[in-house]
Amino acid sequence: MSELVRLIYASRAEFAPADPVQGVEPNVGRILMQSRRNNKRSGIGGVLYFGDGHFFQVLEGEREAVNRTYQRISGDSRHRQLTILSVNTAETRLFADWSMKYVPAEQSVREFLAARDYLRFAPLQFSESEAKELARLFHREHTGRERAGRFSWRRLFDF
Ligand SMILES: Cc1cc2nc3c(=O)[nH]c(=O)nc-3n(C[C@H](O)[C@H](O)[C@H](O)COP(=O)(O)O)c2cc1C
Repeated sequence: MSELVRLIYASRAEFAPADPVQGVEPNVGRILMQSRRNNKRSGIGGVLYFGDGHFFQVLEGEREAVNRTYQRISGDSRHRQLTILSVNTAETRLFADWSMKYVPAEQSVREFLAARDYLRFAPLQFSESEAKELARLFHREHTGRERAGRFSWRRLFDF
């Protein structure tokens, strides 16, 4: 088995986001459906956040699988300015059970940004440590929720 790699990147969406009150942005919904199908097959896990016209994504898996997936994603015309924020080998997965988890806009992200003087979600400007902190925040959110049993991501997105 090759080593486990965690890659974090940000990009700018090429589409004008639909009204957020209508739930998950339809373009993002389509991306998630493709991701879940492919990532499960390739043993890729991770998280996708979409806010203020930008994507922030964590991809975890075996090095070759992460490389292949990132190559495919980087050729996608739905976004541009892909910027790798961090690539590291990892001992364990942060998002083990997830082919691709979606994180809705939340208070915790707003607090994360406010604490660092960001007025908007601007992940292209994140330092490596900020990117890693946000990934850890999404991980904590996820595990906290599961434990508290407030709701289930699986139920919400039915996969
Ligand atoms: C922001 C963003 C994130 C994406 N994440 C993934 C992903 O994690 N896995 C994946 O297979 N495709 C992802 N895609 C979609 C790929 O670029 C590509 O369209 C898809 O893998 C093609 O799958 P298909 O050949 O099964 O249609 C992403 C696209 C965008 C714009």
